[in-house]
Amino acid sequence: MPESFRVALLPGDGIGKEVVPVGRAVLEAVAARRGLKLELHDLDLGADRFLRDGATFPDEDRRFVAEECDAVLLGAIGDPRVPSLDYAREILFGLRFGLDLYCNVRPIVCLSDTLMPLRDKRAEHCAMVVYRENTEGSYVNVGGTFKKGTVDEIAINEDVNTRKGVERVIRAAFSHAVEHGKKRVHMADKSNAMAHAHGLWRRVFDEVAREHPGIEARHVYVDALCLQMVRAPESFDVIVTNNLFGDIVTDLGAALQGGLGMAASANVRPKDPRWTHVRARCRGLFEPVHGSAPDIAGQDLANPLATVLTVGMLLTHLGVEDEEARLTAIVKEAVEQGVTTRDIGGNKGTREVGRWIVERVR
Ligand code: NAI
Ligand code: MG
Repeated sequence: MPESFRVALLPGDGIGKEVVPVGRAVLEAVAARRGLKLELHDLDLGADRFLRDGATFPDEDRRFVAEECDAVLLGAIGDPRVPSLDYAREILFGLRFGLDLYCNVRPIVCLSDTLMPLRDKRAEHCAMVVYRENTEGSYVNVGGTFKKGTVDEIAINEDVNTRKGVERVIRAAFSHAVEHGKKRVHMADKSNAMAHAHGLWRRVFDEVAREHPGIEARHVYVDALCLQMVRAPESFDVIVTNNLFGDIVTDLGAALQGGLGMAASANVRPKDPRWTHVRARCRGLFEPVHGSAPDIAGQDLANPLATVLTVGMLLTHLGVEDEEARLTAIVKEAVEQGVTTRDIGGNKGTREVGRWIVERVR
C-alpha cells in the first residue's frame, strides 16, 4: 500500500498564485515518482474571495484543514485592494494560532557563493536555523487604544509570554540541535531592557540547557545578534527567539540567503502531546517567508525557489524521506546554472524556472 496524504493548497494573493502552482507541480512529481497517494485540495481563500463574498476563513474550511488534512502549503496573503489586513490576519493567525503551530522554523542557509552578499564570506559560512515562537509574544493582539485620535492618545500592544509557550519552543530548538548534530543553540532576547518577559526566557533557557550538556547554549541580545549575523554568520547553528524578534531577524537572514525569493519556512506543532491542547490531524503550515509582492504580481517575475524549498520541508514533515535534500540540491543546481528569476540575477520567468525544477524532480 502506498502511503497516503492530503495537503491543502492555499495560494492566497499576489505572487502566491504564481509560486504555489510550482509547489503543486513539484509535489505531484515527487508523488508520481515514489508512488505516494497524495491528494491535493485547493482552498479558495484570500482577497479575491473576500471581495467576492466577504468570507475570510469560514468554519467549514477551518474544520476541513484541521481534521482532514496533514499539512497546508500557503503562498501569501495581502492585497492592496483590501487596505485592512483583518482578513489576512484571520487566515494566517487562524491557522498558526488555531492549530497551535508553535514553532516557526526558518532555515537561513545560503546555497551558493553567488548568492552570498557579504564580502569575504562564502555560502558555507551561512547555515543556521531560527526557531521563532509562533503563537504569543507581541502578536496576540491583546491591547487597545484610549483617547484615539487625540493628542492624549494611548496605544498598547501587550507582549504575552507564558511559561509553557517559552519552554516548548526552546525545547524544540534543542531537539533540533540534537537530531541534526548541531553544536550550538543561541537564545536571543532583550532581557536587559525587558526584564520581566525576557527574564522568563533566560531562566527557562538556562534550565533546558542544563538538560543538554552536549550542546553549547549561549544567550545573545537581539541587537547584538543582528550585528553578528552580518559579521560572522558562521557563529550560529540554531537560534531560538520570540515571535517579534524572529520575524525581524529572519528577514535579515533572508538577505544572507540571496533575498526573500530564497527563504523557506515551516509552522509546526511537534507531536509531543504534553505541550499542546490541540489534537487536530493537521500539524503543519508551510510557506515561503515572502509576502504577496504586489509590485511584481501577475508578471511571471516571482522567484519560486523559496516555495520549492518549502515543499521540501513539507515532505520531511510528512515523513517522506530524502526529498528535502534532493529538492535543495536541485535548487542549488538551478542557481548555479543561472536558471533563475531576475531577483537573484537570472532572466527566466517563474513558470520556466518551475518547469526546469519539475523536470529534474521527475
Ligand atoms: P513582500 O515579501 O511581498 O515583498 C518585499 C519585496 O521583495 C518586494 O519588492 C517584492 O517584489 C520582493 N519579493 C518578495 N518575494 C519575492 C519573490 N518570490 N521573488 C522575487 N521578489 C520577491 O513584502 P511586502 O511588500 O512587505 O508585503 C506585501 C504584502 O504581502 C503585504 O500585504 C503584506 O502584508 C503581505 N505579507 C504577507 C505575508 C504572508 O502571507 N505570510 C508575509 C509578509 C507580507
Ligand atoms: Mg516577516
